[in-house]
Amino acid sequence: MIRVAVSGACGRMGTLIEQNVLSADDMELVAGFDLARVGEDIGNIVGGGALGINVTHPDNLSTELKRTRTDVLIDFTIADAAVKTIETACKSKVNLVVGTTGFTPKQQQQNEENIKKSKIKAVIAPNFSTGVNVFLKLIEEATKHLHNYDIEIIEAHHNQKRDAPSGTAIKAAETINQQLKEEKPIIYGRHGLAPRRSEIAIHAVRGGDIVGDHTIIFAGNGERIEIKHQAHSRQTFAAGAINAARWISREEIPPGIYGIKDVLNL
Ligand SMILES: NC(=O)c1ccc[n+]([C@@H]2O[C@H](COP(=O)([O-])OP(=O)(O)OC[C@H]3O[C@@H](n4cnc5c(N)ncnc54)[C@H](O)[C@@H]3O)[C@@H](O)[C@H]2O)c1
Repeated sequence: MIRVAVSGACGRMGTLIEQNVLSADDMELVAGFDLARVGEDIGNIVGGGALGINVTHPDNLSTELKRTRTDVLIDFTIADAAVKTIETACKSKVNLVVGTTGFTPKQQQQNEENIKKSKIKAVIAPNFSTGVNVFLKLIEEATKHLHNYDIEIIEAHHNQKRDAPSGTAIKAAETINQQLKEEKPIIYGRHGLAPRRSEIAIHAVRGGDIVGDHTIIFAGNGERIEIKHQAHSRQTFAAGAINAARWISREEIPPGIYGIKDVLNL
């Protein structure tokens, strides 16, 4: 049995991941951490009745990870919180699956240093859906042939999302740049006098309950290609995170930092 704990236990993603862990034959939910609803039974939060596992305050992360002998900690919180959580999990030698987005480059570097130093295994991905990762492969292919076209990225998410642009939109821009001899500058929206140059512009739409849309436009003279992914339900991300937790728990996987591409063998 893989002993799983969830950070962000009461959030939209956290509760869904807990439901997935509870219904997996090879996994056991051992702990949940959140600033909200501390002391409440997670079973009552996710529905389905008491489990005898209460929400723990993140101040007690290290003690609780040790007490519950957690194998994998899955984190879907906010960047500022996740940096500290990752550091503590590293010190506790607990493997990580990180879905949180919005890390600054400095925070990202700090996370990577902590993980490498502690020799744990971590899967970090701004998007755990299988479809999005195939979508990134399609973008790679399109960029090879359409590098001279104007490239724009439009993402849309629900009105509660805190970071902008999405981690997936940033990842898409990085994926495009990795295919180019000369990187294009990335800009965020346009305003005022803004003639187009060679940039990749990212536009963020926020509204209602949109789970997550990403469109990449390759526009040339007389034609354009649009590559689009739409997530219909958060279950696609939850299933991907569970799959990553299972993959990282395999003994033959050495310590290191992995992406979803490694998990899906893309
Ligand atoms: N990688 C992916 O596939 C993917 C998919 C969806 C969302 N996300 C990202 O996951 C994160 C969470 O998204 P959400 O929609 O579930 O948000 P949410 O606001 O519903 O949930 C976040 C939870 O984290 C809790 N939290 C805050 N600080 C904490 C701390 N220090 N320790 C423990 N818990 C803490 C909050 O109280 C809240 O319950 C966001 O960064 C989002 O962009 C990633």
